[in-house]
Amino acid sequence: MSQSDTKNRKLTLAERPKGAPDENTLKLETTDRPEPGKGQMLLRNIYLSLDPYMRGRMSDAPSYANPVEIGDVMVGGTVSQVVTSDVDGFEAGDWVSAFGGWQDYALSDGKGVINLGKSPENPSWALGVLGMPGLTAWAGLTQIGQPQKGETLVVAAASGPVGATVGQIGKIMGCRVVGIAGGPEKCTHVVDNLGFDACIDHKADGFEDALKQAAPDGIDIYFENVGGKVFDAVMPLLNTSARIPVCGLVSQYNATSLPDGPDRLNLLLGTILRKRMTMRGFIVFDDFGHLYGEFAGQMQSWVKEGKVKYREDMIEGLENAPAAFIGMLKGENFGKRVVKLAD
Ligand SMILES: NC(=O)c1ccc[n+]([C@@H]2O[C@H](COP(=O)([O-])OP(=O)(O)OC[C@H]3O[C@@H](n4cnc5c(N)ncnc54)[C@H](OP(=O)(O)O)[C@@H]3O)[C@@H](O)[C@H]2O)c1
Repeated sequence: MSQSDTKNRKLTLAERPKGAPDENTLKLETTDRPEPGKGQMLLRNIYLSLDPYMRGRMSDAPSYANPVEIGDVMVGGTVSQVVTSDVDGFEAGDWVSAFGGWQDYALSDGKGVINLGKSPENPSWALGVLGMPGLTAWAGLTQIGQPQKGETLVVAAASGPVGATVGQIGKIMGCRVVGIAGGPEKCTHVVDNLGFDACIDHKADGFEDALKQAAPDGIDIYFENVGGKVFDAVMPLLNTSARIPVCGLVSQYNATSLPDGPDRLNLLLGTILRKRMTMRGFIVFDDFGHLYGEFAGQMQSWVKEGKVKYREDMIEGLENAPAAFIGMLKGENFGKRVVKLAD
């Protein structure tokens, strides 16, 4: 179904998922298009970003951000067009990067909204390599990972927007880069198109041995995106003074209990101690939002020069967003998952 000029379709949180979200988690509703007040602008959402963090917003467990309340529109980054504006610096027809949510229209006072101009080349890329996931990769790697020439960098979810960008920056900085991805097709892409030195399929038999062989000098930086059995395979290979930017644990987002034993906490603490490793978690805009300008300039040049490549996985239609999101948490996406809401 396409967008209407008078109605607003929106996906609201119907119930908090226990384990993986399913077809009952979100509800598609239609209301009148919202009317902007003084100091507001009306945005028409054209592209909606699907990101793993949204699973956390569906839950009311304590976190770094407030949960979405039952009945409220799901939050999400959008690339949108300004329909009408009473906000300085924005006028009708401007493309913007905003936080418009899972709906056709949103109101905004301009806070946190980035003006992309009247005709950006690839507007949806502001949700990926040139936006939040790109900043996450760049800042997590440069500020915490601190790559040095000749070091070995390992990153999982290597064909996704964060992992793919981490690995390509690692190559620019002179590292040996090993990706970890789910399946041979993703691994071939990571090596042949993105230029990683190797990519190991975490679903294949002998994953741990293959990873060891791909990192013969051990691992100096492990960019943590997934956790679980991937981290178990990485831990024994970490070198003295290894750095671990802890970016995400997507393998655990749908978990309803702690993983099966044995308890590996003391093994981890002992490894951190003996190897004098640095593990640091970060929340991208809270910790590194102030670096956005520096990131944007650098990344735009790399993308223009073809040094950083970007793959999108575009889904059509707001009504297909819930299934696309559920699939992404299982690894069904191949590249940055974006929903196109309108032409
Ligand atoms: N800290 C922050 O501020 C921040 C900001 C943005 C993103 N993040 C985190 O960064 C990570 C990557 O985000 P993204 O947007 O680039 O996601 P993404 O790669 O597009 O999607 C998630 C990927 O995770 C992999 N995955 C899912 N379950 C897995 C499992 N059990 N074991 C191993 N891999 C699994 C799948 O790839 P394969 O098929 O290749 O396994 C899936 O495609 C996520 O953890 C996200 O939460 C953190």
